Amino acid sequence: MHCVRKVTDDLYWVGANDHRLHLFENIHPIPKGVSYNSYLLTDEQTVLFDTVDWSACRQLLENISFVLKDRPLDALVVTHLEPDHGAALQEILLRFPQVKVIASVKCFQFMKQFGFCLDGHECVAVKEGDTQTFGKHTVTFIGAPMVHWPEVTLAFDTTNGVLFSSDAFGSFIALDGKLFQDEVNFDRDWIDEARRYYTNIVGKYGAQTQSVLKKAAGILDQIKMICPLHGLVWRDNFDYLLDKYQRWSSYTPEDHTVMIAYASMYGNTESAAYALAARLCEKGVKGVTVYDVSNTNVSYLVSEAFRCSHIVLASVTYNMGLYPIMRDFLEDIKALNLQNRTFALMENGTWASCAGKVMRKFLTEDMKNMTLLDETVSMTSALAENQADQLEALADAIVASLQNK
Ligand code: FEO
Repeated sequence: MHCVRKVTDDLYWVGANDHRLHLFENIHPIPKGVSYNSYLLTDEQTVLFDTVDWSACRQLLENISFVLKDRPLDALVVTHLEPDHGAALQEILLRFPQVKVIASVKCFQFMKQFGFCLDGHECVAVKEGDTQTFGKHTVTFIGAPMVHWPEVTLAFDTTNGVLFSSDAFGSFIALDGKLFQDEVNFDRDWIDEARRYYTNIVGKYGAQTQSVLKKAAGILDQIKMICPLHGLVWRDNFDYLLDKYQRWSSYTPEDHTVMIAYASMYGNTESAAYALAARLCEKGVKGVTVYDVSNTNVSYLVSEAFRCSHIVLASVTYNMGLYPIMRDFLEDIKALNLQNRTFALMENGTWASCAGKVMRKFLTEDMKNMTLLDETVSMTSALAENQADQLEALADAIVASLQNK
């Protein structure tokens, strides 16, 4: 059965939802699913903008058949070839042997690398500023390399103001019948998953995302709709969305608050983490969050680290070094280029404690623009009652730093 939604009078969402995939990119949990968005324009020529993951190909084909009726598919625009959008391309090429394929040079290179057969198809390589006209609609192409792969080229329909934004402005969470952002309470129900999507998938490429934001700002008065490859279509409130992307891509915290991430083997470091959280809340800090790194998928920790201005790391010592899961978290935020945060440290070790030393070295030598508070709490096995003053001093230092920012 087809499952299609109208985006404009002659543009249809023909994508699919996926609730069966547990791990996006086989690494990030998606408990609320994800959508693969594909769009079909029915102008004098019919034009498909991107395809879907292979698992959703059948739904895509049913949707295309329903919209096309007896018309042929004339053109396929590929803005991004990552297989969550490009895998069904081969099937489209087989079923529509006359379809013209429009993509960047790099995208055509990747099609060959993935083994797609383009024999017999007209292939049109486009670059920044090129245009294609399909009848009354003219589409101009905007380079967006590394948002999120190097071949990415956005497509902007200058006739109706629809920006096909590829991975940019996308989100986890399946659509389940919804399509537009004004059909949900985005700030309540979607923002956390949109942040987790951006920070983990595109977070490393802040500079490249900033470049795309500058290009979008140049045509903002013409943009009427933003159609990403995952999640909701935006038809108003662009300022909200652009502000989030501006913050995430410039590594600017969204909230002046504290995230505490702890690594605890037997509950003693955990207990100290909650004791600090209670002190901070008593002192009036709003929105303190606490995470056990062993029981929280790192994609959520990364997302929170992008949201919060202050991060407390509380870790046990392990094998004369840092607890491996805490190290993984630090390596992840380093790989994703996180910057401009204030850190505070708590360490634990029954003998020869060195977690604090390792974390301090990592934050100051391996990461960019991180501030480390001087105050720390060092435990031997457990936080002792006579360390209450140390805990208080650490909480005071964090509060002072929050107020300074
Ligand atoms: Fe949704 Fe980079 O693919």
